[in-house]
Amino acid sequence: MNFHIMTLFPDMVMDGLRTSILGRAQENGLISMTAWNIRDYTLDKHNKVDDYPYGGGAGMLMQAQPVYDTYRAICQKIGAEKPRVIFLSPKGQTFHQQMAKDLAREEHLIFLCGHYEGIDQRVLDKIVTDEVSIGDYVLTGGELPAMVMIDAISRMVPGVLTNAESGVSESFSEDLLEYPQYTRPEVWEEESVPAILLSGDHAKVDAWRLEQSKEITKIRRPEMFERYMETHPEPVRKKRRRK
Ligand code: ADE
Repeated sequence: MNFHIMTLFPDMVMDGLRTSILGRAQENGLISMTAWNIRDYTLDKHNKVDDYPYGGGAGMLMQAQPVYDTYRAICQKIGAEKPRVIFLSPKGQTFHQQMAKDLAREEHLIFLCGHYEGIDQRVLDKIVTDEVSIGDYVLTGGELPAMVMIDAISRMVPGVLTNAESGVSESFSEDLLEYPQYTRPEVWEEESVPAILLSGDHAKVDAWRLEQSKEITKIRRPEMFERYMETHPEPVRKKRRRK
């Protein structure tokens, strides 16, 4: 899985993705990240990459030429004709877990991070395959959203998470919100850990955790709970026949 990030702030992205699990995944060769500085591709003699919008209005726009030439350089490097290009924008489709899972199957993903007031529409029309938002709020640029998506996609790449990190034993972990967790000491500020977690009965612990997950999802995210119930129907209990 190879991530290519088109940005005016390559250090921001690379520094943010170097640590912890994603750092280890890069060292192990499971994922790779390359930041492409759009400014390196400008033909302007003052290294300018932005200009005023036609029709007037506040702010500056990123110009088509440096963005397109960066894109062409990536295509050439990876030997792809029409690679997947994700443009981060509040106007895009909202990112979600299933999208992360689907994108994790691609060999190359290009992220286009806008800055200033946006990017000339003509180059977007030419190269963008997916326009994605990470939520209904406006950020100053696409770098943080790209990092959010890369983190979520990377953990879906086989081998990036260890078994312990992925919680593979909990089949419900992706469809429900997480149950509460506790660690030592057993009593803290006069509050005890739920007794069932100390019982050593794994089946009972799993059942308790599932119940907790269902309860919290039902209260906080009713639409997610409904989806879960549709895809995980409760087993129908047979009525006992009276003799
Ligand atoms: N750029 C600015 N705000 C954004 C958001 N919420 N999602 C994706 N890209 C953005």
